[in-house]
Amino acid sequence: MALVRSIFELEVFAKEVTAALAPRGHTAVVMALYGDLGAGKSAFVKALAKALGVSGIVTSPTFVLQKIYPLQNQKFERLIHIDAYRLESPKELRQLRFEKTAKDPKNLIVVEWADRVKESLPRDAVKIHFAFVDETTREITIEV
Ligand SMILES: Nc1ncnc2c1ncn2[C@@H]1O[C@H](COP(=O)(O)OP(=O)(O)OP(=O)(O)O)[C@@H](O)[C@H]1O
Ligand SMILES: [Mg+2]
Repeated sequence: MALVRSIFELEVFAKEVTAALAPRGHTAVVMALYGDLGAGKSAFVKALAKALGVSGIVTSPTFVLQKIYPLQNQKFERLIHIDAYRLESPKELRQLRFEKTAKDPKNLIVVEWADRVKESLPRDAVKIHFAFVDETTREITIEV
């Protein structure tokens, strides 16, 4: 469990997470993000993108459901951001060709509102829980 007290600390945390990630032999690494509205899931993805050298603006893919960022000189070739908040059913995840995406070891996939599609996520997804503490502080727990 980590108490993250600012966006700067969140960026440090995201860097530590990226450093600890190891690509897998036969599947993508999937990070399943849990937590209420405003808990900091999108802010974390933004910090993660920054840690992975993504330039430009990272916004939540609420309307397009999925955003793909090519990465340069990283352990993964792509960061894929899925926001399941507006997915009506796991069927829509299939329409995003999730199964195929999740098979590619070059992909790092982060899924906001993972509880909405949990039956469709791989069992070995890295589960990260976000909770609001106060205006500037969030509690982040990585399930192991
Ligand atoms: N320590 C912190 N960690 C993360 N976010 C923080 C922190 N302190 C303040 N914030 C702010 O809290 C807000 C979190 O909103 P964010 O959109 O990331 O939440 P979310 O979990 O993605 O919500 P939603 O379910 O609506 O997508 C942002 O405006 C962010 O700047
Ligand atoms: Mg969000």
